[in-house]
This record gives sequence, C-alpha cells and structure tokens, in this order.
Amino acid sequence: MSSLFATAAEPTAVPISFVTRSGWEALRATLPEVAQRFASAHGYSGKPGQFLALPTPEGDIGAALFGLDQPDARAPDPFRAGQLPGLLPAGTYRFANAPHDTRLAVLAFALGAYKFGRYRKAEPPAVKLVPPEGIDIAAIARAVEAATLARDLINTPSNDMGPAELADAAQALAQRFGAEFKCIVGDELVTQNFPLIHAVGMAATRAPRLIDFTWGDPAHPKVTLVGKGVCFDTGGLDLKPSSAMLIMKKDMGGAANVLALASMIMGAKLKLRLRVLIPAVENAVAGNAMRPLDIFPSRKGPTVEIGNTDAEGRLVLADALALADEEAPDLLIDLGTLTGAARVALGPDLPPYYTNDEALARDVARCATAENDPLWRLPLWGPYDSWLDSKVANINNAPSGGFAGSITCALFLQRFVESAKSWLHVDIYGWTPKAKPARPEGGECQAARAIFALLSERYG
Ligand code: BES
Ligand code: MN
Ligand code: ZN
Repeated sequence: MSSLFATAAEPTAVPISFVTRSGWEALRATLPEVAQRFASAHGYSGKPGQFLALPTPEGDIGAALFGLDQPDARAPDPFRAGQLPGLLPAGTYRFANAPHDTRLAVLAFALGAYKFGRYRKAEPPAVKLVPPEGIDIAAIARAVEAATLARDLINTPSNDMGPAELADAAQALAQRFGAEFKCIVGDELVTQNFPLIHAVGMAATRAPRLIDFTWGDPAHPKVTLVGKGVCFDTGGLDLKPSSAMLIMKKDMGGAANVLALASMIMGAKLKLRLRVLIPAVENAVAGNAMRPLDIFPSRKGPTVEIGNTDAEGRLVLADALALADEEAPDLLIDLGTLTGAARVALGPDLPPYYTNDEALARDVARCATAENDPLWRLPLWGPYDSWLDSKVANINNAPSGGFAGSITCALFLQRFVESAKSWLHVDIYGWTPKAKPARPEGGECQAARAIFALLSERYG
C-alpha cells in the first residue's frame, strides 16, 4: 500500500484543490484566467464529488478541483476524497489546501484506491499522493494495510479461504511480529474441550480449528480479541436460502477484522499483552452435521440446545470466549458477522456494539466518530435473557420468534463471559453491498480502526 504514497515531496506533483459550493467563487478567483474559463465552460460549481482536471496552457494537467460536502450538509461524508483515485488520471498529486479533516481525507484516498487483485492481473497503482505535512503517515499506512488485509481475506472466495488458509494468514501475521502461534485442529478440539467449535465444524471436509496467538509483554494489561471465522455459512441443515447464502464467504469477517486490528496493535507496538483467538470452521451440510434440537456440552459447562444450526457463529464464539475468559483479561473484545437482525436494525454500515462498561461504551462511540468507523450501541437487555432458556438443556442458541435477534445473540455470548474485567461485542456486517467513497463493493474493514484508536489512547 505504501506504493500509493510518494516518498519525497515532488515539485511536479499536481495540486488538488478542495472546493465547497459556497467556497467555489472565492477559490475560482485565485485561478489563472484560462483555468477559470475552462471551469466555467464545464459548468463547474464545486458540488460534492464534482471533479475537474484543469489544463496548463501547454495542455498538460496543471491542477485538479474536487468538491467536498458543505459542513452543514444533511449527511456530509468525511470520506468523500475516497472517490479521487477513481477519478484522477495517472500521475502524482498533492493536496493544495486542507480538506475538512486532512487525516481522514488521506485515509479515504488510500482506502478508495483498493482493488481486489487476486484473480485478475492488477495494474500497478497509477495514482500517487504526496502525504500532506503534519499528519502521521506511518499510522495511516498501517491502517490502510490492515484494511487491505481484512478486505482481501473477506473477498477471497471460500474455496481458497477455508479454515486452514485462514490459519495460515493468521500465522503469517503472527510470525511477522514475533507472536507465539498455535492452532488446535480437528478431533483435538474434542480432546481439549472445545465441543461447540467441533460441533459446528465437524460436517465439513476441511477440519475446524482454533487459532491462538499471543504477543507483547506479559506484564502489560491483557487484551484478548476473538473473531468469528466461519469460512462459509451454508446455514447447516437449517439451510440458508440461496439469496442469503450468496455472500457467506464473508462470514469470517470477524476473524479478518480481528487480524486487521491485531496488525495495527502490533505495528504500533501498543503497551499491551495481546491474545488473538479465532475459531475457524465451515458450517457445512453432511450426514454427520449437527441437527436442530441436538444438544452439546460447551467448554464453560452449560449444555446448549441447537434451536437453529444457522446460529453457528455464537456457538463457536462461546467456546473461544470461555477460553479467553479463563485468564480474566483486562479487556475482552469479540467481532463477528453474527446476525441478519443487526443489518435489519441498523443497516450494513453501522454495526451495533454491546458492553456493560459505561466508560468503554463512551470511548467506543467517540473513537468511532473520530475515525469515521461508525458504531452504534445497543443494550444487553436483561429482560430478554430468559428467551434463551431451553426446556431440556441449559440454554438454546436461537430463541424462536426472532425478535431482537442481535440483542439475544449478544445475551447468549454474555453467558460465557464472567471473569473478564470488561467485555465488548460487535455484531459487524463486514461487507459493502454498494460502493461508496473509500468503500468499494465487497469485503470491508469494520470496527477495527475505531477500536484501535481506543486502544492507542489507553495503551499508546
Ligand atoms: N452469518 C449469519 C449472519 C448474517 C446473515 C450476517 C446475513 C450477515 C448477513 C449467521 O450465522 C446467521 O445465520 N444468523 C442467523 C441467526 C438465527 C438463525 C437465530 C440469522 O441472523 O438469521
Ligand atoms: Mn449462520
Ligand atoms: Zn454465520
């Protein structure tokens, strides 16, 4: 990704002037006569997203104009500059003036240059940006690299991103930063008491596994990240309809974003002891698949009745959270693409988060806004907890009726967290259904940047 940023300030870099509708006339007056006439001829008015390359008298590109949202617009997009890589002709550019938030604009520019190139020869990035002064470009580069990792992992189809390949990606990241890596595979999950991870993954020809790596000074505060790594979710025997199954390669989006977050944490050398846990499985259909109303023990102890085999994410997270909880971490965070209900409630771009730690809740909200990585708090609503009761086991994984589906999922997970000092759960979507500035269609990095900002405040 660093190939996007020009290393030294290049005198030949083409200036990009950011414009708003109300500021356009004043900016226009500063342009050379020929550029003013060119802009008028094109009817340029500085509308949000409006782009114009201005010629030099010799006919080269001398400057570029790009419209930003009015700050008082109904929904100003801090990532508007993410459109630029798709608009600019090949060349090296610099910002001529400050966009509303320079750091977010540079980030958006870089995120907007993303292309998933694994299966088609990708052209080398034709657009370069001279980093503006006064911003921490190394931090931005780490965030962009992390987002690229998450997007690539999610976009890679399941035939090339099964539990083993996901483990390989985690191991590569761990090795790069000298983290200690291990992985419990297949029937070893039963031996080592991860019955739910095994139950979800046992029907697949690709063995389930629990990825586990640890980094940092053991004396530092313990932060543990848990990511849902369902490499494909058919729904199991309560099979998903084809329209719902179509994008289920993204069901390891929690794992992908946990790895993105871990890469930022380790890259920035935060003063914390990091542990990453990823239950990596495929929720497949076969003769030995778990069935509706089967009952399994869990690592923590409670017996779990399978109300719906499609509520598999909470099952694998339950055993991983139980393991994480055993060492009473200072902060336990899990991310997962857990419910369609979260998307129904808040849409694909605004994942709900859950915590009973009020200070943490406030910090998450603030960092999410500051990073333009939106998150919205929903409650761990105690009165709904009894909906999880089973008539024959200790708990049911899918309350009938489906009311408050994201909340009841969070309440299910909460039953497996006891000793962690603080717990945060995010029900992400991990996918951009329709391209927006800086957010190309496909796999998306969600919650990782917001949480990284929070962690760097606390442990920077
Ligand atoms: N991976 C899905 C959740 C999902 C579906 C996320 C669509 C994003 C888009 C999850 O495993 C699932 O199937 N959840 C069920 C739970 C239900 C059976 C209680 C759901 O949301 O329908
Ligand atoms: Mn499912
Ligand atoms: Zn799932």
